[in-house]
Amino acid sequence: MAKSKFEYVREFESHNTCLPNCFIVVRVDGKGFHKFTEAHGFEKPNDRDGLLLMSKAAACVMEEFNDISCAYGQSDEFSFVFNRDTNVYKRRTEKILSVVNSLFTSSYVFFWDKFICRRLKYPPSFDARIVMYPTVKNLRDYMCWRQADAHINNLYNTAFWGLVQKSGHTKQEAEKILCGTVSSEKHEIMFKNCNINYNNECELYKKGTMLVKRLVHKGKGDSYNTVYVPLNCDIINDKFWNENPHILNSDLDTPVCQEINEECQLVFVKTKKICDDSTKKTKEKKNRNPQRRNHVKAETNGVIE
Ligand code: GTP
Ligand code: MG
Repeated sequence: MAKSKFEYVREFESHNTCLPNCFIVVRVDGKGFHKFTEAHGFEKPNDRDGLLLMSKAAACVMEEFNDISCAYGQSDEFSFVFNRDTNVYKRRTEKILSVVNSLFTSSYVFFWDKFICRRLKYPPSFDARIVMYPTVKNLRDYMCWRQADAHINNLYNTAFWGLVQKSGHTKQEAEKILCGTVSSEKHEIMFKNCNINYNNECELYKKGTMLVKRLVHKGKGDSYNTVYVPLNCDIINDKFWNENPHILNSDLDTPVCQEINEECQLVFVKTKKICDDSTKKTKEKKNRNPQRRNHVKAETNGVIE
C-alpha cells in the first residue's frame, strides 16, 4: 500500500519493552474508590458482592491472556502476574498495561448488574502500573507485601467499624481508641467491645483473593475447560506455592480440578460465551492437550528461580 506523505510521523513513536526473563506484574487500583464505594452503598468495611465483582473482572483479564499465571486482589486492587517467558505484545510495556487496565475496567462495568443490585451512578476508573521482578523471591515478596497490606488494613477497618457499628462510638472516638494499638490489642478491643472474634472473620476479607487456573472436564470427552478459581488462602508461607508450582514455572501443567464450588462458578462464567459462542473454536491452549498434561505431571517440586 502506498504511503502518504504524513507517514513519517510514525517515527516519533517510542516503545518501552519489559526486561527479558522477568515476571511482569500489572496492578490496577480503583481511582477514588473511597468515594465510589460510598456513593454506591457498599457495605463497610467489606462488601462481598463488590469483592466478587472485582474477581470476576480479573478472571476476564486472565481469560484473555493465557500467559497470566495468577492474579491477587484485595480491596480495590488486583495484581496480574505474567509468566517470565511471555512474549505477549512483544513485551511492549504500554500495550500490556493499557489493554489489561481497560479490559479490567470494562469488565467491571459489564458485569456490574450481575453482582450489584444498585444502579451504577457514574463510570468507575482504575489506575495501573507495571513492575518487573527478576527473581522468584522478588515476585513472592511482592505478593506477600500485598497480602500483608490486606491483613493490616482489614484488621484496622474491622476494629474501627466494629466500634462504630456495634459499640455505638463515633468515628472520632473509634480512631482515638485504636490509635497506637498493636495487632493483639486490636484483637482484644474487638473481642471485648464488639463481640468480634477476628479469627472467625471471613477468609475473603482477611486474606484477599488469589485467582488460579484449573482445568475441568468438559462433558464426557477428553477435553477441558479452563476455570479461574478464587482461593482465599495464605500466600505468604510456602504451602500455597508448593501446591501450585505451575504459577512460577510455565512449563508445568495446569492442575485438573474435580469440582468447582458456588463462588468459583460466579467467577467462571465466560464473557465471550455470553456474547459470542463462535470464539470458542479459536481457543487452542497448550494446557488443553491431555497428552502434554500427563507427560509433565509430577515434576512439580517447589518453586524455581
Ligand atoms: P486512590 O486509589 O488514590 O484513587 O484512592 P482510593 O479512594 O481508591 O483509596 P485506596 O485505593 O487507598 O483504598 C481503597 C478504598 O476503597 C478504601 O479505603 C475504602 O474506602 C474503599 N473500599 C475498598 N473495598 C471496599 C469495600 O468492600 N467496602 C467499602 N465500603 N469500601 C471499600
Ligand atoms: Mg484506590
